[in-house]
Amino acid sequence: MHMHKFEKIWLIFGIGTLLVFLTVLGVSAFYLGNQPPSCLATINPEKVDTNAPFNEPGLKKVEGKDWDYELVYVAQAFAYTPGEIEVPLGAKVKVIATTKDVIHGFQVAGTNINMMLEPGYISEYVTTFDKAGEYLILCNEYCGSGHHMMTSKIKVVE
Ligand code: CUA
Repeated sequence: MHMHKFEKIWLIFGIGTLLVFLTVLGVSAFYLGNQPPSCLATINPEKVDTNAPFNEPGLKKVEGKDWDYELVYVAQAFAYTPGEIEVPLGAKVKVIATTKDVIHGFQVAGTNINMMLEPGYISEYVTTFDKAGEYLILCNEYCGSGHHMMTSKIKVVE
């Protein structure tokens, strides 16, 4: 009789643990989804060239936003557009990027910018360029034979 009671307790404990486990798993799967957290907006990867802002890649001054400039990039195997850009020192910039074909990386060496560009998604990062110099943009996701040549450059100038 005593054993029976204990078995019951263990059974309840077991089911309880399982429920907690499944809840945690379900909730985290729901929140993480299947896309990186930096990707909130979507885009048709086949119409990147005709959709704003990607129809005009490059640096643009903006008004009435929390940032001063928007820096728009289009990535495709094996290059970024624009290939080189000048940014004024101290500018608060929202980097907006997407890819036209496969997954590419977007890492700006020497900064905190490190995004993954996925076809169909728009990746964004707001940062302030407060140190003059040249910054290399690197692709850190293997994307094919030209992967290692895929770079761009940001020049922060006074
Ligand atoms: Cu693009 Cu590696």
